[in-house]
Amino acid sequence: MLAEQKTIDQHLDPITIGLRPGLEGVPVTQSAICDIDGIKGELKYRGYPIADLAAQSSFLETTYLLIWGNLPSPQQLRDFEREVQMHRRVSFRVRDMMKCFPASGHPMDALQSCAASLGLFYSRRAIDNPQYVYDAVVRLIAKIPTMVAAFQLIRKGQDPIQPRDDLAYSANFLYMLTEREPDPLSARIFDRCLILHAEHSLNASTFSARVTASTLTDPYAVVASAVGTLAGPLHGGANEDVIKMLEDIRLPENSSSYLDKAIAHKQKIMGFGHREYKVKDPRASILQGLAEELFARFGKDEMYDVARALEKEASNRLGAKGIYPNVDFYSGLVYRKLGIPRDLFTPVFAISRVAGWLAHWREQLGANRIFRPSQIYTGVKTRKWKPAEERSTPENS
Ligand code: SDX
Repeated sequence: MLAEQKTIDQHLDPITIGLRPGLEGVPVTQSAICDIDGIKGELKYRGYPIADLAAQSSFLETTYLLIWGNLPSPQQLRDFEREVQMHRRVSFRVRDMMKCFPASGHPMDALQSCAASLGLFYSRRAIDNPQYVYDAVVRLIAKIPTMVAAFQLIRKGQDPIQPRDDLAYSANFLYMLTEREPDPLSARIFDRCLILHAEHSLNASTFSARVTASTLTDPYAVVASAVGTLAGPLHGGANEDVIKMLEDIRLPENSSSYLDKAIAHKQKIMGFGHREYKVKDPRASILQGLAEELFARFGKDEMYDVARALEKEASNRLGAKGIYPNVDFYSGLVYRKLGIPRDLFTPVFAISRVAGWLAHWREQLGANRIFRPSQIYTGVKTRKWKPAEERSTPENS
C-alpha cells in the first residue's frame, strides 16, 4: 500500500514531471477532429485534406463535418443550412446592448460580450440534452456573423440590417456588413476563407474552449472564453497586426532593413512562426492563392508586393529556425480586398473558428474530466502576518 502510494505521489509531483512553459509538446487530450503534420505542412479535418475542403466544400458543410464527425447527406445539409438560416436574427435586446458599447471599442470585445449574453436567453445546464446541444450549435453558427455585422453598423451610428433569407451564409454576412450584395466570386472566396480558419487542433482559443467546457458550463460561455483568447496578437489578433506592419514597411525594398531591425530588437514578425509548423502553413499558401484570384479580378493591393518581399527575406533569415508564414499572414490582404475593415479581421476569424470550438466542446463532453493542471510554487514558503503599524516598508524587504 505504501509503495503504491509513493508511485502515485511521484507520478503527480510537478517537479518530477518538469515544467513545460506553454505546454509545448504536452498532450492534454485525445482528439479525432483535426490532424496536423507540421513537418510536411499537412492539415486535415476529420481525415479530409484542407485543400480539398477549401476547393470543394462549403463552410456550413465543413462545420457539419467538424461538429458531427462525418460529411452530411444532401438532406442533412439542406436541413442544417435551413436551420442556421432561420436563426440568423439576433434579439433587439442584444442589438440595444451593442448600442451602449463605445463605438471606439474593439469589435472582438463587443463579440465576446454578445456571445456571452446569449447564455442569458437560453436555458443553462442542459448540456446532456442532444436537442439543446444541436440548438446551441445552430444558434452560435447562425448568430455570431450577425453580431459582428451589427456592431459594425451600430458603431457607425446606423441601424443593423436584417439577414436576407435568399442569400447563403457567406454572401449574407458580406451583405449585412457592407450593405451590398457581394458578387459570386467574393462570396465564394470568403466562404473558402471560413473553411480554412474553421479548426486547428489545440490552439490557444480551442484549449480555452475545452478548459471552459470541462467545467460543464454552457456553450455560450465556452465560445465567449474562446473569443477572448483568440483576440490576442500572438493568436488570431495577428491578422490585424500584419496589415499594420506591411503599411509601416510601405515598399518591397524596405522589407530587408525592417527585418534586420526587428530581428536585432528580438521583435516578432507578425504572421510568421507556428508552434506546430516548421514549414509554410498550408493555409497561408491557399490564402495567398485566394488573394491572387481577387487581385486578378478586382486589381492588386499594393501591400501584396510588400508581403511577398517580406516572405522572401524572412525565409532567408528565419527559415533555418522553421519560421515561415502562418494562416494570419495573407488573410488580411484577402479580407481587405473584400471590403472588410482591419479591426474586423479577427472577428471574422472567430465567425469561422466557432465551428472548431463547438466540435471540441462536444468532444470534451464526450469524455470529460475537469482541467486542473499543477504548478511549481516559487513564492515565499510561510510568513507571519503583522498588524499594519508593525510592518516595515516595503513589507517584503
Ligand atoms: C495563430 O496554434 C495555432 O494553431 C494557432 C493558429 C490557429 O489556426 O488557431 O494557427 C492561429 O494563432 C497563428 C499565429 C499568429 N501569431 C503570430 O503571427 C505572431 C507572431 N508569431 C509568434 O509570436 C510565434 O511564432 C507563435 C506565437 C505563433 C508561436 O510561439 P512559440 O511556439 O511559443 O515560439 P516562441 O515564441 O517561443 O519562439 C521560438 C523561437 C524564438 O527564437 P529563439 O529565442 O529560440 O532563438 O522562434 C523565434 C523566437 O524568437 N520566433 C520568431 C517568430 N516566431 C518565433 N522570430 C521572429 N518572428 C516570429 N514571428
